[in-house]
Amino acid sequence: MTESHSLRSGRRVRLALVAVAVSMVWLATACGDDASTAVNLSPAAAEGQRLYNVSGCAGCHGRAGQGGVGPTLVGIAGTERPLVDGRTVIADEAYLIRAIMDPNAEIVAGYSLRMPSNRLSESEVLSVIAFITSLEPSS
Ligand code: HEC
Repeated sequence: MTESHSLRSGRRVRLALVAVAVSMVWLATACGDDASTAVNLSPAAAEGQRLYNVSGCAGCHGRAGQGGVGPTLVGIAGTERPLVDGRTVIADEAYLIRAIMDPNAEIVAGYSLRMPSNRLSESEVLSVIAFITSLEPSS
């Protein structure tokens, strides 16, 4: 009983140390070029913003999601997306996950360029979506 208890707390200490190490690395890399576009981001959204910038999303969709060669992502959640195949879909979370993880699954009408694929994992994509859905139009 006591032995397994101390084993477990030992593991918890190790996990905490790993978490500290990871966040130190994150802080070190995040201080670089982060011209922050949104304030009061949740931790997931802040991580999503970092991934958005380092994964090239910002190059096509703008650092603040304002759009460029790719569509604007500001306020996209819940809106109707017209697709090249004539269908219209609602940009719910499942759509946004597909749009990022499998860019060719549904292609938004009106863009000559095709979005390239990326190497984001599903949990990274969820962070990116937390960032996208926190974007607000800059007035
Ligand atoms: C080379 C430019 C380019 C890059 C890089 C890129 N995209 Fe796109 N993205 C597009 C274009 C063009 C479309 C619309 C055509 C299509 O669906 O392929 C699009 C569509 C989308 C959509 C659906 C938008 C809508 O209007 O319904 C989302 C969401 C999205 N991109 C997110 C991302 C994220 C997140 C990244 C980074 C991992 C990324 N994109 C990287 C060009 C790009």
